[in-house]
Amino acid sequence: MKDNFWLKIKQANKPVLAMAPMAGFTDIAFRQICTDYGADVTYSEMASVTALFYNQDNLKDNETLNLLRWNKKREHKFVVQLFGSNPEHFAVATKIVSKEIKPHGIDINFGCPVGKVLKQGSGAELMKNLKQARAVIEAVLASTSLPVSIKIRAQSGDVTALEFIKSISDLPVAALMIHGRTLKQGFVGAPDFSLVEKIRPYFNGVILMNGGVVDLETAQAALHLSGADGLGLARGALARPWLFQEIKEGKSTEYSQAQISRLLYQHASSLVKLKGEGALVEWRKHACWYVQGLPGASKLRSQLVQVSHLSELENILQSYDLNN
Ligand SMILES: Cc1cc2nc3c(=O)[nH]c(=O)nc-3n(C[C@H](O)[C@H](O)[C@H](O)COP(=O)(O)O)c2cc1C
Repeated sequence: MKDNFWLKIKQANKPVLAMAPMAGFTDIAFRQICTDYGADVTYSEMASVTALFYNQDNLKDNETLNLLRWNKKREHKFVVQLFGSNPEHFAVATKIVSKEIKPHGIDINFGCPVGKVLKQGSGAELMKNLKQARAVIEAVLASTSLPVSIKIRAQSGDVTALEFIKSISDLPVAALMIHGRTLKQGFVGAPDFSLVEKIRPYFNGVILMNGGVVDLETAQAALHLSGADGLGLARGALARPWLFQEIKEGKSTEYSQAQISRLLYQHASSLVKLKGEGALVEWRKHACWYVQGLPGASKLRSQLVQVSHLSELENILQSYDLNN
């Protein structure tokens, strides 16, 4: 394994903080913002190995690869997350991503609960199939010299996180992110923080706990109760990327409405620089998170979800700041 950055970050003796993968959200602009606020590791949105497999002979302007572009100067450690079910597709996709994208690591998705992903035997469905899951991990390990990590759930079907990890405990997987909720729980309910202690004897790599971290208090509780090496933040960091900094510094910070509206604009303008104004359509989802809890949120939200040009956003925010 080339450069096990996971271990190096852990050895720095502070919690390893990662922006967890989120389809539709963890694009290059948002990942850069998270890095600025202290994320040690950022994950891409999940990318289909099957899409890469079937387009392997024509990678120019490939949509999946374009989704995975990143900026070496603006992201400390960048991990590409792959999903699928076929080990051969994983092998080919891993080689393509390692060569064309050159991330710091490759991650495998064993937790996605979305119907069309499950139907293909991927995501959380793959976690249920221990034999196939192992074959997938082996295929990825054999196809790259980058550190390989996995993301699993507390349980999928009858397969528990512990059983899953026991079945691959001999493989050199560098890191594990556990979403502490079962497939049945989906995205709600309390994560199981007791998992890390049970799994630790069977897993040599870095373990990150994920699920339900929304502020400094829940972050500290998750670290303390689980004994994990770090955390994967997901919805808690949407529109609150300073959560990384708060956890690093151990103190909460109040952000004023003016600071939030500046960040909202900075996010949009950096996305436009990277991808053009068309990308503001993707940004609107982030905008809805930013305005939560602000005075006059519902009016502001209804304006922001129609923004197509940066100049419109400037006008909306100027008039909002003047009136609130
Ligand atoms: C909109 C959305 C998109 C997500 N996309 C992915 C993904 O691409 N890959 C993945 O492994 N998990 C994905 N997740 C799951 C998150 O990484 C995380 O495990 C989950 O949201 C629980 O953490 P939280 O309670 O802190 O949000 C997604 C979650 C949401 C809400």
